[in-house]
Amino acid sequence: MNCQSRRRPSPYNWSQFNHKLKMVHWPHFLSLANLIALSWLCVVFVSSSPQSVLKSAPLINEYARQSNSSLLWGPYRSNLYFGIRPRIPKSLLSGLMWYNADSYDGLKNLRHTCEQGDAMAGYGWQQYDPRSGGHQVINDLDNFVNISTDFVKTEVGSWAVRVKGVPQNEQRRTTVIFYSGLEGHGKLDLESQLTPEGIEGPVELVGSSPELGDFSIEVTTGPSTNRHPKTSHVVDKVRPSQNSHYASLMMPDDNVWLAKEVFQTFIEDNVSQFSALFDEADMIPPWSVFTLQNRDDLKGNVHMIQRTYQGSFEFDILYNPIEISESSKISSRKLGDLLELSLSEFDTKFKRAFQFQPPFDSSLKHELFAKEMFSNLVGGIGYFYGTSIVDRSLSDLDDDEGDWEVEAAALASGVGKEEGPFELFTAVPSRPFFPRGFYWDEGFHLIPVLDYDADLTLEVLKSWFSLVDGDGWIAREQILGPEARSKVPTEFRTQYPHYANPPTLMLLFSNIAKRAHEWSQSEHGTNFDGSLVLGNAHIEYPELLFSYAEKIYPELQSHYEWFRRTQKGEIRQWDREAFSSKEGYRWRGRTPNHCLTSGLDDYPRAAMPHPGELHVDLLSWIGMMTRSIKEIARVLGKDDDVEMYSEIEEAIVKNLYDLHWDHKEQMYCDSTIDDYEESVHVCHRGYVSLFPFMLQLIPEDSTEQLLAAINDIKDPGGLWSPYGIRSLSKSDEFFGTKENYWRGPIWINMNYMILESLRYYGTSETSSAEVKSLSSEIYKELRVNIVNNVFNRWEETGFAWEQYDSNTGKAQGVKHFLGWTSLVIKIMAMPEEL
Ligand SMILES: *[C@@H]1O[C@H](CO)[C@@H](O)[C@H](O)[C@H]1NC(C)=O
Ligand SMILES: *[C@@H]1O[C@H](CO)[C@@H](O)[C@H](O)[C@H]1NC(C)=O
Ligand SMILES: *[C@@H]1O[C@H](CO)[C@@H](O)[C@H](O)[C@H]1NC(C)=O
Repeated sequence: MNCQSRRRPSPYNWSQFNHKLKMVHWPHFLSLANLIALSWLCVVFVSSSPQSVLKSAPLINEYARQSNSSLLWGPYRSNLYFGIRPRIPKSLLSGLMWYNADSYDGLKNLRHTCEQGDAMAGYGWQQYDPRSGGHQVINDLDNFVNISTDFVKTEVGSWAVRVKGVPQNEQRRTTVIFYSGLEGHGKLDLESQLTPEGIEGPVELVGSSPELGDFSIEVTTGPSTNRHPKTSHVVDKVRPSQNSHYASLMMPDDNVWLAKEVFQTFIEDNVSQFSALFDEADMIPPWSVFTLQNRDDLKGNVHMIQRTYQGSFEFDILYNPIEISESSKISSRKLGDLLELSLSEFDTKFKRAFQFQPPFDSSLKHELFAKEMFSNLVGGIGYFYGTSIVDRSLSDLDDDEGDWEVEAAALASGVGKEEGPFELFTAVPSRPFFPRGFYWDEGFHLIPVLDYDADLTLEVLKSWFSLVDGDGWIAREQILGPEARSKVPTEFRTQYPHYANPPTLMLLFSNIAKRAHEWSQSEHGTNFDGSLVLGNAHIEYPELLFSYAEKIYPELQSHYEWFRRTQKGEIRQWDREAFSSKEGYRWRGRTPNHCLTSGLDDYPRAAMPHPGELHVDLLSWIGMMTRSIKEIARVLGKDDDVEMYSEIEEAIVKNLYDLHWDHKEQMYCDSTIDDYEESVHVCHRGYVSLFPFMLQLIPEDSTEQLLAAINDIKDPGGLWSPYGIRSLSKSDEFFGTKENYWRGPIWINMNYMILESLRYYGTSETSSAEVKSLSSEIYKELRVNIVNNVFNRWEETGFAWEQYDSNTGKAQGVKHFLGWTSLVIKIMAMPEEL
């Protein structure tokens, strides 16, 4: 949509949100020429691929077609209570807003974006299938109403949402605003009969865009049980409350996200005019005063529809492409059945993916809990598009100096430049607090998703790896576009291409390769007969996985090499003796109190950053990465690469011992250089010291190291608590100090890895009997402790949380963190005992 060619709504005072508009940059369009060039490149790429890929071209094309259509629409505006958009860069953005209309200050609780501070008795998806739809509830205390949004989508590109509201009592009045705005090329018009009194009956929007074709959106009036507030005030006759009231305006691309601010501007403008017209004795009722003024002189690409209800209400929003047959369009009549279908589809797939084991296999409450944990994870998947702010000026800073003060000063004064635009399809750690892609969270997010829908997992991974730049770097926090940036303080927006973050995405690849291998060993036939069911297609059809792996392999390699190059540590320089002189690593971006890049922000490290420092968690991560990429090379039959990666893996396993094992302390430790220029260990018992164990890089026959790790885990004076394993030992001098983020609190992602490793070593043929018995002894109890605490806190507060206090189990940090806390469902599906 070319904003310069359109008229701005001049009668309106834009100063209200001018400050927000100012920071908005208007990226250029994806031109048709670019698209054509791109598709031509794809053709060349495919036709130059090996025979095997050509033979399976029908399968690959069919997969791409189906995957594209089933994932096109979704509640991909994760930061909104309810917002829909397609996976298309500049396109149709829709959303819902509401407030209580009983009093004049109801408007201050106008809901749109999920906010940590909103008084909610819980909200989120209770069931959600990423390919068909789901059911969300929002229990809004300040607005005295429980709202549900039931969303469905179909293969032919239609979607619909049924919005229902049940207020605290039938006298309560609620105002709901639905809006749609089209960005990019195309148009969107309000087609209904427009009068100054509003729109009677259903509201119809009609639009078209190059990617979506012609489409219509209907906002229905809903059942006849809907009621609207009534008074005898003269204003109620001017704008009768049974009508829909509307506003249209022209907004440039990258601005539709400001819908709430625009609505408020409209309303405030009207209110100020009103107050001049009426005195206090003749006050206009609150639901009437904040009503859009139905002006027909404004046209544009953004339309807002406002309705006010008294008591319970219900209406539908139906989106249909125009060219599809009438019978395949979604109508209100069909919506109920489609919803039921989608919910039962979810239930079936969920049951298949997660078979809960005792004591979590029977209670209905556990089932509801687990479904909500999972549905919010996949219901939080979003599509993001926009530029990222990157500062490349510091990568060349002479790092050998390792002077963190120089670097910190440079960071503070550095100005990033916009790069991109990029697109990203990803889950988010928390819709209210972290509604964007986080590199190190994402690997954990995808672990449960893999069990439910492996194809979706691979689509998300592909999206992430498409962000690998020419050097092999992926920014750890993906703050794409002005809307995402509006949630992040300026000082945290810039990304630095020499900073890493735990490569959790790689965890998925070895898992997928393992599954594909198991499947190929089983009896299943895998002939493609033209029909395909998405969910597990990449596992069932090795050709699909092969083609996928082949395309992504160069990015994986480049990313892997970037890690090993940019985070390299010094071994020989400090006369360290180790099996390999190469495999030692150091997180860049350290300050005395923080190592944000490690993901474990304030976990204690050496007192002062030093260029000779080596980090045990980083070497472990790179070991895991090596193992994963080796598995992918194996899937692709690249024997030379398999051999090369096996050698690196062996070197890492040996160096973990040579560089990081502390015999006296009986734990793995970071290493630094002391005042006498000697290499010394820095030991703090906790997640960092457990990394070689958590990533299963301790050889099964290293009984001394394994027993040390397990004994640390089970020590109540150290890491063990009745609610899960603490991040830092209770006996460490830094336990619970300063911001106390990774200095004691319990994190579910780490607890999940600990359980997996207890299971791995506890059942391995080659582990010693002692390791086995000790592992199984604590495994069973730990599993139950973790789930029970997350469950109890969810019951108590209505939310999943970022972390849990290690003395009381109390929920803390960010709420609605469904995110890696959702890993509890994987834990519930683990065996009860080893
Ligand atoms: C709204 O939801 C809350 C929390 O689940 C519940 O306690 C309350 O009864 C619900 N209110 C109505 C009117 O359904
Ligand atoms: C995927 O869908 C979009 C939107 O309809 C379309 O523009 C694109 O060409 C599709 N891609 C494939 C591979 O079908
Ligand atoms: C707001 O709406 C009223 C009623 O439609 C209209 O008379 C007035 O011009 C607008 N500005 C103010 C009061 O809205």
